[in-house]
Amino acid sequence: MVLYFTGTGNSRYLARRIAEGLDMPLYDLNTCIKAGDTAPVQTGQDVVLVTPTYAWRIPRVVSQWLGNIELTGAERIWFVMDCGSEIGNAAKYNQQLAAQKHLRYMGTAQIIMPENYIAMFHAPQKEQARRIVEQAEPALQKALAQVRAGQEFSPLRDTLYDRFMSGSVNPAFYRFFVKADAFRATDVCIGCGKCVELCPLNNIRLENGKPVWGKHCTHCMACICDCPKEAIEYGKKSKGKPRYHFEALEKQRTERVTKRILTEEEMSDLSDKLMQVTKGMTITVRYFVEDTAHPEIPAVGNYVTLTGRVESIDPVFRTLQIAKVVVPFEDLVEVRGDGIVAIDDHLGIAEPIESMQ
Ligand SMILES: Cc1cc2nc3c(=O)[nH]c(=O)nc-3n(C[C@H](O)[C@H](O)[C@H](O)COP(=O)(O)O)c2cc1C
Ligand code: SF4
Ligand code: SF4
Repeated sequence: MVLYFTGTGNSRYLARRIAEGLDMPLYDLNTCIKAGDTAPVQTGQDVVLVTPTYAWRIPRVVSQWLGNIELTGAERIWFVMDCGSEIGNAAKYNQQLAAQKHLRYMGTAQIIMPENYIAMFHAPQKEQARRIVEQAEPALQKALAQVRAGQEFSPLRDTLYDRFMSGSVNPAFYRFFVKADAFRATDVCIGCGKCVELCPLNNIRLENGKPVWGKHCTHCMACICDCPKEAIEYGKKSKGKPRYHFEALEKQRTERVTKRILTEEEMSDLSDKLMQVTKGMTITVRYFVEDTAHPEIPAVGNYVTLTGRVESIDPVFRTLQIAKVVVPFEDLVEVRGDGIVAIDDHLGIAEPIESMQ
């Protein structure tokens, strides 16, 4: 059986691919943990556990669940950990967990997937996220082949740094950083309750139609990354950062659109507004991102909206850099921000409101 826990869908995707590849049943730990279900799980002989990496180990909520649950029929366990960059010396703790469960430890595999920890770091933009998912394929295929052959995963890097991160930093991280205090819903929240539904620890409730966070959080990022209105912020840390969710990324890919050619009037309005953009301003742009992994003529992709500080505007190369994203002028369809107005207003020649009535 393939068991998985996920915050933002990466682990569910990998677990589904492994289950399909090995013709094994899939077991969703989020539902089980959310429901407080502690009944034994009939796993069969081979267990593959797929989880995100939280502070260089498997999530504590998963190791605790596994420690308390009887896995009926289980004999061997493989750990597949997806991560933004590295899992440290997580293997040591997985091995201990396997021993505690009287299971044969079959190793730990690391698969790099898009980073989702926007309470601390940056999640990649959609195009980059898609590339990371594609680049994960060889590691996924290797893990699949090894489990299929009943082989142990190859040992991973185990330096002093890895031991320090998984050993000392992990408990400090839980103690000092894993808190829900900084979550809040902004005015764009529509009270749909999706965040309440998604939270695997039942840590969110609606009060007067707005979410309120409790004290039992594992920082899985499900609520903040999957809110349909992007209405959740984590203090100032998440401001202006792209939200990441695997299924949203996939949905967008299958809903690609053809790049629209702007009318002359739209182009002139856009260039008038671009002339008012200066370095350091905070602006919002909407622009086309081509699906370069699946190119077509005419170009297909998605329109995305980005808000951030203007780092540079280059009239020669005709690009605008907002935060870390460089947008070619030709992909822009909208530019707005405080102080950016239609050219007539800009030049002070707009007709007075009365005369337009
Ligand atoms: C609380 C938290 C801690 C994380 N710690 C690490 C880490 O130690 N190393 C790493 O490479 N990625 C880390 N990440 C990134 C995730 O492990 C990674 O994006 C993962 O693929 C997310 O999986 P999911 O979509 O199934 O939740 C962390 C993410 C979160 C939310
Ligand atoms: S998912 Fe978003 S919009 Fe819906 S209730 Fe939660 S914060 Fe509000
Ligand atoms: S409150 Fe949000 S981040 Fe914390 S466990 Fe629930 S869904 Fe995950």
